[in-house]
Amino acid sequence: MADAALAIDAYRSLAEDEVQARILAARERLGDRVVILGHHYQRDEVFRHADFSGDSLKLSRQAAASGAEYIVFCGVHFMAEVADILSRPEQTAILPDMAAGCSMADMATLRKVEQAWQELGGVLDPEAAVTPVTYINSSADLKAFCGRHGGIVCTSSNAAQVLEWAWSRREKVLFFPDQHLGRNTALLKLGMHEEDIVVWDFTRPLGGLTPEQVRRARLILWQGFCSVHMMFRPEHIEAFREKHPEGKVISHPECTYEVCARSDYVGSTEYIIRTIAESAPGTRWLVGTELNLVNRLHARHRAEGKQIHFMAPTVCMCSTMFRIDPQHLCWTLENLVEGRPVNVIRVPEATAEQARRALQRMLEVSP
Ligand code: 13P
Ligand code: SF4
Repeated sequence: MADAALAIDAYRSLAEDEVQARILAARERLGDRVVILGHHYQRDEVFRHADFSGDSLKLSRQAAASGAEYIVFCGVHFMAEVADILSRPEQTAILPDMAAGCSMADMATLRKVEQAWQELGGVLDPEAAVTPVTYINSSADLKAFCGRHGGIVCTSSNAAQVLEWAWSRREKVLFFPDQHLGRNTALLKLGMHEEDIVVWDFTRPLGGLTPEQVRRARLILWQGFCSVHMMFRPEHIEAFREKHPEGKVISHPECTYEVCARSDYVGSTEYIIRTIAESAPGTRWLVGTELNLVNRLHARHRAEGKQIHFMAPTVCMCSTMFRIDPQHLCWTLENLVEGRPVNVIRVPEATAEQARRALQRMLEVSP
């Protein structure tokens, strides 16, 4: 066994056929010592190697249930962190490219959230009045923050159940980092009113709010967003409906309220896939989520005569998900064959322990 890990540089120029064949060969040698988890936004050349695919909730359950020695996560950084936190200590979580982050997750940092918590403390007692809820698209230290302040994690598929749990414990919720998931869930699923909601501008003292606004609010939304889902606009839906009045519109809850309110269905990537799969042959759909998934839906359902349209006229992909390419997957697996894990994601145990509490609460609320 050589001492140093195989370098990525030698992989960058590998031809597609060769890289695919080498991935298959490495997998064969690793057998059930490795499991590959793939998020729905992964490009096809990577996605085809996933043992399990899913939305964030399904993949975190899969990571917790896996017995494999190595969990290779084809997704983004926070997903591999969750895999590390929920797996056993002897298992190793790996992210094939460390640069695969989530720009929305980066919009809330522990320093900013702690500052917000402290500033809220000037108006009320947050430990008694506010449940912190973090979208799973966040760093492990924010999940740990929720763990130690009586809070919880949610995903796009269980946000309504989690928010109900949060309000059953304390009168207010501080929700980060995605304002749109929070607003869409509160207004469209839980029947809350606009006047109960305020947006916390994390660049301004007290989030740019008055103490009175904070006291009145039931939901305080962090001003974060996903730039991919912000590309979908109400006018795209209007143009589609005009042309195809019989068509259905389905969106991810990271889209704006204006988009979700005009959609027939709103839900996670897994929900979008299931809803379209269960629809009648010949149905026409406008889909507001990431392009790789929409292209896959289009190819999968073409034979049944289902027409799948992408909501935006421009190409909008998650550029960080796209960083996981077959070359990085091959490099990761061949290093495992050599007994040298690369790109290991290891959350420090003190953080992991508190983050696990918030994740476990979520898994209990939405088993
Ligand atoms: P899902 O959990 O719905 O797959 O969403 C994850 C994500 O990052 C969407 O942008
Ligand atoms: Fe993050 Fe948006 Fe990419 Fe999802 S689509 S991983 S929220 S940047």
